[in-house]
Amino acid sequence: MPRQSALITVMMNAARKASIRLKRDYGEVDQLQVSKKGPADFVTAADIRTEKLLREELSRARPSFGFLMEEAGEQLGADTHRRWIIDPIDGTTNFVHGIAQFAISIAAEENGEITAGLIFDPISEELFWAEKGRGAYLNDRRIRVSSRAKISQSLFATGIPFMGRGTEEDHDKFLSEMKAVMSVSAGLRRFGSAALDLAYVAAGRFDGFWESGLQPWDVAAGILIVREAGGLVSDLSGRDRMFESGSIVAANPHLQQDLRTLITGARTSD
Ligand code: IPD
Ligand code: CA
Ligand code: CA
Repeated sequence: MPRQSALITVMMNAARKASIRLKRDYGEVDQLQVSKKGPADFVTAADIRTEKLLREELSRARPSFGFLMEEAGEQLGADTHRRWIIDPIDGTTNFVHGIAQFAISIAAEENGEITAGLIFDPISEELFWAEKGRGAYLNDRRIRVSSRAKISQSLFATGIPFMGRGTEEDHDKFLSEMKAVMSVSAGLRRFGSAALDLAYVAAGRFDGFWESGLQPWDVAAGILIVREAGGLVSDLSGRDRMFESGSIVAANPHLQQDLRTLITGARTSD
């Protein structure tokens, strides 16, 4: 087992504990598919419950930290320099449809910098985690981004803007981006969890990932995990401002710049 700090241990314990109930909830979703109302309300409840459980566990271990959470929003802690950034279920649409591609994402931010990140897929029991300066891991195995240097051999992931997210113009821009990447690469995937997409880039499964319109809790843990696995991450403009802009391009170091140029070129050429 790699050496891990007390902080990441606290995060792992919280994620594992919250995942027990979450897994049980997921098991029930399938039965709800056939009901007229569908499982949407049930999933909202699972989301809120998971977030509450994570908040309680993390508060007990680090009472002074603040929170930035998808459901409850921002909560200042006694220590205004430290906070948890949490997405209780990333991949909610998959969860609602009984598709096992979702994860708990937790990041620790200290003095404006992510120092630890964890993405836990409770169904496959894959735990992706990293601490600043200490490398990235999948369970107890060190992970690295892929070494592919040719776009033509590379597999990319993205997130498609959906109803209520983005204007018609945004959707058109996205179609141009997809067209630019799909026509020169080995393939494109849309798995439905930005956190797991980033974890898969870190593990070398995807060679790169991009998306716009994201929130800090979608990407906070994943950014650190990709970087600690040797990857590069920026927003669409090439800056380290993913939280502010909501856009992200993450890839291995051979491809990140090329992928970004391809996407931004497609956006401006239409
Ligand atoms: C969503 C997922 C999805 C991405 C969306 C996110 P949620 O998060 O990460 O892959 O395309 O932009 O909002 O709503 O499932 O927590
Ligand atoms: Ca999310
Ligand atoms: Ca979510």
